[in-house]
Amino acid sequence: MSLEMKLETLKAKHAAALAGGGEARVAKQHEGGKLTARERINAFLDEGSFEEMDSLVVNRTPGTEKIPGDGVITGFGRVDGRPVAVFAQDFTVFGGSLSEMYAKKICKVMDQAMKLGCPMIGLNDSGGARIQEGVVSLGGYADIFLRNTLASGVIPQISLIMGPCAGGAVYSPAITDFITMVQGTSYMFVTGPDVIKTVTHEEVTKEDLGGASAHAVKSGVAQFVCPSDLAALAHTRELLSFLPSNNLGEAPRKAPKGNQPLENAELDKVVPDDPTKPYDIRTLVKGIVDDANFFEVAERFAGNLVVGFARLDGRSVGIVANQPAYLAGVLDISASEKGARFVRFCDAFNIPLVTFEDVPGFLPGVTQEHGGIIRHGAKLLYAFAEATVPKVTVITRKAYGGAYCVMASKHLRTDFNFAYPTAEIAVMGAEGAMNILHGKEIAGAADPVAKRAELIAAYNEKFATPYIAAEHGFVDEVILPRDTRKKLIKSLSLLETKREQLPPKKHGNIPL
Ligand code: HXC
Repeated sequence: MSLEMKLETLKAKHAAALAGGGEARVAKQHEGGKLTARERINAFLDEGSFEEMDSLVVNRTPGTEKIPGDGVITGFGRVDGRPVAVFAQDFTVFGGSLSEMYAKKICKVMDQAMKLGCPMIGLNDSGGARIQEGVVSLGGYADIFLRNTLASGVIPQISLIMGPCAGGAVYSPAITDFITMVQGTSYMFVTGPDVIKTVTHEEVTKEDLGGASAHAVKSGVAQFVCPSDLAALAHTRELLSFLPSNNLGEAPRKAPKGNQPLENAELDKVVPDDPTKPYDIRTLVKGIVDDANFFEVAERFAGNLVVGFARLDGRSVGIVANQPAYLAGVLDISASEKGARFVRFCDAFNIPLVTFEDVPGFLPGVTQEHGGIIRHGAKLLYAFAEATVPKVTVITRKAYGGAYCVMASKHLRTDFNFAYPTAEIAVMGAEGAMNILHGKEIAGAADPVAKRAELIAAYNEKFATPYIAAEHGFVDEVILPRDTRKKLIKSLSLLETKREQLPPKKHGNIPL
């Protein structure tokens, strides 16, 4: 064969790989409001940076034509100049279904990502296991699950759900660190509406069962929802800007855009004088961090705990904050799980933790107790205790009961603990304490209402302050809200050389 002919053959093979499932299926994909796998990769990566692997791999699916690339595009590229690994499932080829060779391609790029120490981004859009390949396809999934697990805590793994993701296929994204779903075009479920109808007689649409809102609000499976493919890809680029490439690196430092003063007098007005009045903790967070840029994670799930990424003097930090504007910031099962997972992510990837505390305690109730608030609440406690990254806590108002201990207290090896003068640190609030300590005294008083008010005032005077904790050294300093940014930046700068380790062990046994 002449060189010219060889080149023609190569060109034809590449053209076939680029064609995916053909024009008609590509048109159908576009009609459904979705980009193709290749369009997604190009939109995601820095322009011209994509290096594809295995575009000439073909399927071994019995009784079908050979399609170069076999329904998944894999390779490496760059985001803001930093290397990332990517796979994009191509719904136009056998419905993006996963085959033996397809799984091998994904495993290969994952193995390489681990060697290079770069984040792994999966763009999911698939009809699940390729039916014609049977158990070989199921084995392919398990090979991927194993790699997801081994990569956990080594490289950041992010899943974008941009079409169907059903059956056991959901468990690869589930093991990854973050899931972003595209509103209206994506869904995730273990068993779909038809099976559910047969088994439980419940009737539900795909969207209500496993659409983006269901998972962002109810199940907590998805951390982010974006309105379109392009928005999801841009959002993931921003997420990556807060993360290191791997567990041995640090997140890139990015200078703040504005010339932000270290003091902000407006912050003195955020926490209301009345301890029963709610306020939005985000107002405080945004007034403190660089450029008021708070990249919230799982915004619509367990709103009583706010978590997300921000920067302080250019350093990436993980923010964990009770939200007094939602359920008074109480800790419940969902908030504990949300917080624990976020804290563990930050700890695994060297991202310092900044905690804002205003928590009346754990949520009382039979549902919470029988739902396992004991073991779920323990997850958050465990996560904060285990974390060895720099930890700084600011008590803005309430720090009551067990929740005081849990929310990155001094006792859990937090490096710097600050409190505002408005802080109330006690075993419980005055109302609850009255019945236990002074029930009989109040009942026997000539004017029980007046007696109760008098005792509450005395209790608050004594306990509802940060000063007893400060006297014990559990609070390092009582600071004004206006100085929070200054204090946090100084603390994080000092903590750059922090070295702390866990005792040697195979792994702990977090109460799952
Ligand atoms: C082989 C598949 C396929 C699959 C879709 N296709 N799913 N081929 N294996 N799993 C093919 C179709 O034959 C069709 O081919 C093309 O992909 C597009 O599919 P359509 O049905 O035309 O598209 P649409 O109407 O958009 O519906 C998409 C869909 C539906 C909802 C995903 O295709 C579907 O229900 N597929 C089966 C889903 C499923 O049950 N998968 C197994 C789940 S269990 P042509 O040639 O016509 O374009 C599982 C176990 C994993 O995955 C276990 C891991 C441990």
